[in-house]
Amino acid sequence: KFKKRVGIIGFGCVGQGLYDVVEANKHLGLEVGRICVKDKEKPRTLPVAAFTYNVQDLLHDKSLDILAELISDADEAFQIVREALRLGKTVVSANKKMIAENLPELVNQQQRHGGVLLYEASVCGSIPILRTLEAYYGAEPLLQVRGILNGSSNYILSKLYQEGSTYAAALGQAQALGFAEADPSLDVEGTDAANKLCILTAHAFGAFVHPSQVLYFGINSITPEAVELAKVLDCKIKLVASVKSIGSGQVSLQVLPALVPATDELYFVDAEFNGVEINAQFAGQQFLKGRGAGSHPTGSAVWADITAAFKGYHYTFPKLCVAKATAAASEAPLTL
Ligand code: HSE
Repeated sequence: KFKKRVGIIGFGCVGQGLYDVVEANKHLGLEVGRICVKDKEKPRTLPVAAFTYNVQDLLHDKSLDILAELISDADEAFQIVREALRLGKTVVSANKKMIAENLPELVNQQQRHGGVLLYEASVCGSIPILRTLEAYYGAEPLLQVRGILNGSSNYILSKLYQEGSTYAAALGQAQALGFAEADPSLDVEGTDAANKLCILTAHAFGAFVHPSQVLYFGINSITPEAVELAKVLDCKIKLVASVKSIGSGQVSLQVLPALVPATDELYFVDAEFNGVEINAQFAGQQFLKGRGAGSHPTGSAVWADITAAFKGYHYTFPKLCVAKATAAASEAPLTL
């Protein structure tokens, strides 16, 4: 029977989610080979024998057909993924910070050594947004991509709006439900959304923009009074990320809390859900909504990447270029 094996690096929220999805779909011929974790003391849901503590064991295990990098440390993840690509491996990753900060080098390694990297799970959890953008890319010019890209901050804003709960209690719930980052300041300060926006920009416009070039603000200074004021105005406060073409081959990126009225699809994206609006020159507007965080939705996106990789799917970057200008001000252009 057709059997493929995946090596999982990292067994936190997403690693466990992928494991559950693979186990539930065993009849499709994929099994978990080995799992690499760092912390020997941490209680696990599987017997000790399922784990190794040395990532080299996975990188050099020829019985593994694919590697899933699912750790949270971006620098460590980059070392692992770069090494795997240098060895010509097929890798999937959910690490948005690592990908956003290193995309040119990751593309370069794939081109040089023939490995493949897919990372649908890194942006908007279960929403197939990268694949959708890839389908547009090169086919017709996109005008703008905008959306809610961080589930935790959206969850907190929704709780403040619906229940009048406190900011601290809502953040605690987002953490308990496995939506937040290990360091939740990445969520609430807008960094995570900025990282994801950079990845979307690469796939929508072929431009690599480093996260440090993006103007972003988070939701950590949104007060209950501001949420109430928004309600009076028939609006909700949402953390909206957007990248748009501003003509002459230039794009502008920003992540900002905004007053969103009910005429905007984003108004109806609540809790940990994410939503993305794509505006294309001829197709007009498309809107995708789905679970943007959490163990199973994200594990499902990793699983989708694994099955896509086995079918030979890979991203295309026909004109990926490093944007040189900085976007210190919101409308400052990045030249492509
Ligand atoms: N912490 C992230 C979020 C997880 O809340 O959106 C999904 O990338």
